[in-house]
Amino acid sequence: MRRCRMAMVGGGPGSFIGPVHVMAAQLDGDIELVAGAFSSRPEKSAEAGRNYRIAPERTYRNYPEMLAREPLQPGGADFVAIVTPNVLHFDAARDALRAGFHVVSDKPATATLREAVALRDEVNRSRKLYVLTHTYTGYPLVREARDICRSGAIGDIRKVVVEYTQGWLSERLELSGNRQAAWRTDPARAGAGGCIGDIGVHAFNLVEYVTAQNVAAVSAVLSCIAPGRALDDDCNVLLRLGNGAPGVLHASQIAIGERNRLELRVYGSKGSIGWKQEEPNRLTVHWPDRPTETRHAGCGYLGGSARQATRLPAGHPEGYIEAFANIYRDFAGLLRRRGEGDEQAWSDTLCGIEAAVRGMTFIERAIESSARSAWVQVD
Ligand SMILES: NC(=O)c1ccc[n+]([C@@H]2O[C@H](COP(=O)([O-])OP(=O)(O)OC[C@H]3O[C@@H](n4cnc5c(N)ncnc54)[C@H](O)[C@@H]3O)[C@@H](O)[C@H]2O)c1
Repeated sequence: MRRCRMAMVGGGPGSFIGPVHVMAAQLDGDIELVAGAFSSRPEKSAEAGRNYRIAPERTYRNYPEMLAREPLQPGGADFVAIVTPNVLHFDAARDALRAGFHVVSDKPATATLREAVALRDEVNRSRKLYVLTHTYTGYPLVREARDICRSGAIGDIRKVVVEYTQGWLSERLELSGNRQAAWRTDPARAGAGGCIGDIGVHAFNLVEYVTAQNVAAVSAVLSCIAPGRALDDDCNVLLRLGNGAPGVLHASQIAIGERNRLELRVYGSKGSIGWKQEEPNRLTVHWPDRPTETRHAGCGYLGGSARQATRLPAGHPEGYIEAFANIYRDFAGLLRRRGEGDEQAWSDTLCGIEAAVRGMTFIERAIESSARSAWVQVD
């Protein structure tokens, strides 16, 4: 059984998430990085290729060149991972699909909802796999939380509270040469959403992923708190779920003291659950008439989807890279099934093009809601 072969767009020297993708993809030995166009600057792409130990002839000056030449290579790539700033996601994904590659893309799927809808057509036409890396869906206890909600154990979903707060953009870091801050606060490179597109969309995805409820409508207040910034950096959003239940989504990047505080609480008619990304190996389950349960990653009493997403025994902490690796492992499993002739292969644990369209719908409707000071439908 050969390894699946990965090519990457983005992930050049000094970048954040590209190297995480490479580590995660290769963690279980199912996938190997064989090619890349790692930067918009050819010399930086070459430097990255050397760092990733890619053959020089498989490090390309730009991604069109990679998409044209890689199919001609013996052992050419099977799929393309897209880890550039948001505004490039659509073109790179569309072109990769048209060139016959499967696609793994980081979020947000595209810069606009219109692009996401067009990309859905491309995915459907291509019959290739498209997977969106909403990292947090890879955590074992997020999958356990999802199973609990779906089983009905906590009853009907009555209320959801999701918070995703960071403090690193509390000042105009974009003015001091921080490249991650620079493109995230620039509409030309980030798209229409600032904080709402960068981390709000993760929070939104987590709500829909765990509760299996669609967010039906939003009432949002998006603010630019840091003076002079062009995109939102603080988001307060009321949610109405498909079953009518209320919810609150709070995302902020000016919350000094917060590092990467993603926290989800789901209140049902029979119980409730709580999960915190900064303590990802514990899930709290509350009952009205029994002591609170703490479920630990790696324990045999967890459901199948959580157990499959863990590599080590309980008490040996796994984290962000392993959560990412779970997405890649599920994806590699799909690729293998496709290779064996199962053309419809899909995995319930993965986010695909529908989640991509949902995420972009949420971002644009939240922006619209804030501009109009009105509730706006998300469906
Ligand atoms: N899933 C997650 O948890 C998560 C976390 C962080 C970032 N992200 C997403 O990943 C993407 C990248 O974010 P980042 O923080 O790593 O950004 P970054 O600025 O650190 O890295 C972006 C990389 O893309 C490269 N690049 C830019 N234009 C290119 C082009 N035309 N061709 C090839 N490479 C090009 C840059 O040289 C750089 O190496 C964004 O869409 C972001 O939203 C997701």
